[in-house]
Amino acid sequence: MIVDDMLRTPAAVADAERWTAHNYHPLPVVISSAEGAWLTDIDGRRYLDCLAGYSALNFGHRHPTLIAAAHAQLDRLTLTSRAFIHDQFADFCRELATLCGKELVLPMNTGAEAVETAIKVARKWAYRVKGVPADQANIVVAEGNFHGRTTTIISFSTDSDARDDFGPYTPGFRVVPYGDLAALAAAVDENTAAVLLEPIQGEQGVVVPPAGYLPGVRELCTDRNVLFLADEIQSGLGRTGETFACQAEGVVPDMYLLGKALGGGIVPVSAVAADRDVLGVLRPGEHGSTFGGNPLACAVATEVVRLLATGEFQRRSAELGERLHAGLHALVGKGLVAVRGRGLWAGIDIDPALMTGRQACERLAERGVLAKDTHGSTIRLAPPLVVTAEEIDHAVAQLAAVLASA
Ligand SMILES: Cc1ncc(COP(=O)(O)O)c(C=O)c1O
Repeated sequence: MIVDDMLRTPAAVADAERWTAHNYHPLPVVISSAEGAWLTDIDGRRYLDCLAGYSALNFGHRHPTLIAAAHAQLDRLTLTSRAFIHDQFADFCRELATLCGKELVLPMNTGAEAVETAIKVARKWAYRVKGVPADQANIVVAEGNFHGRTTTIISFSTDSDARDDFGPYTPGFRVVPYGDLAALAAAVDENTAAVLLEPIQGEQGVVVPPAGYLPGVRELCTDRNVLFLADEIQSGLGRTGETFACQAEGVVPDMYLLGKALGGGIVPVSAVAADRDVLGVLRPGEHGSTFGGNPLACAVATEVVRLLATGEFQRRSAELGERLHAGLHALVGKGLVAVRGRGLWAGIDIDPALMTGRQACERLAERGVLAKDTHGSTIRLAPPLVVTAEEIDHAVAQLAAVLASA
């Protein structure tokens, strides 16, 4: 264990546990500052961040450009609500729409709100444009999905931890196996509004669908007049070596769902982006959020979009991702049973005979590398895209040492 009676950490961990609902099971580290890819805890120990806030920190901790934008905006204007227009709004919407190659964006705050927005827009589009009879629209989703925590979204989760005891559930969703085009085609009918998918399933363990699946989904949706909603909240904005994970197979969805990294690790910012024939179905009063598109969020997120527009982070992710995956693949048979992913994003399966994912993460933390387990023996690695080649090698070496010591 990394706890030590002489340190401040054990008491701080106990205090946090005492005063919060136990909806998370964090590693027993208490972080007090961070810069780039590195975190420092209250006892002065340093850790390489290999989770990056589940990809919310793609640009690292406290990226200077983003921090400067936040400071400048804090000194001028932080909130207006959407009752008025503020001077950061149009730039953000135009630049994000341009990055996405779409005509319109609708900003919200959390990822789950972007998903809820997508569901509402798709249903309204189905009734007003496609001609689906009132309240009959269905949306097809995939097994193993993770789209957030609202009651509607968990209604179509297949993870019992996320779903059980939270019913009654919202109807109108059909669940098919991920990666199975025939099953998807069979589930789509004349009342289908949309197919909602993660191009790579992050929470499920960075599961990449078979080649040809996403282009097949695109073709099916076009043929059957169904919207393809791509949840790129975790996979998007540079994580996989492209701006969007869909690009790896040349696929353009009807709507991008974005979040996490859009807020630069500073503020919660999410958005959906689509063309006017889709997002244009909304009228005043039908949807909204007090904080969605606020001046601070827009000021930071505009700089995020500008960082992405340079292509530098996508390049780093692609190049360093090869190094990460080469290092991890060399550990298959030496404690790892599988490695998946793309760019600086990997799901690794630890040999369950050696240890659980949780135990591996605790031992990695003792060696100064922070990562988080998901589903038993799987660990997700997603370092900030500012990580260096040497730091990647360091993380892989620490993992190798943890596996070898088992
Ligand atoms: C693919 C995907 N969609 C949606 C969400 C929900 O985002 P948030 O936690 O900001 O509501 C997540 C969060 O992990 C996610 O990975």
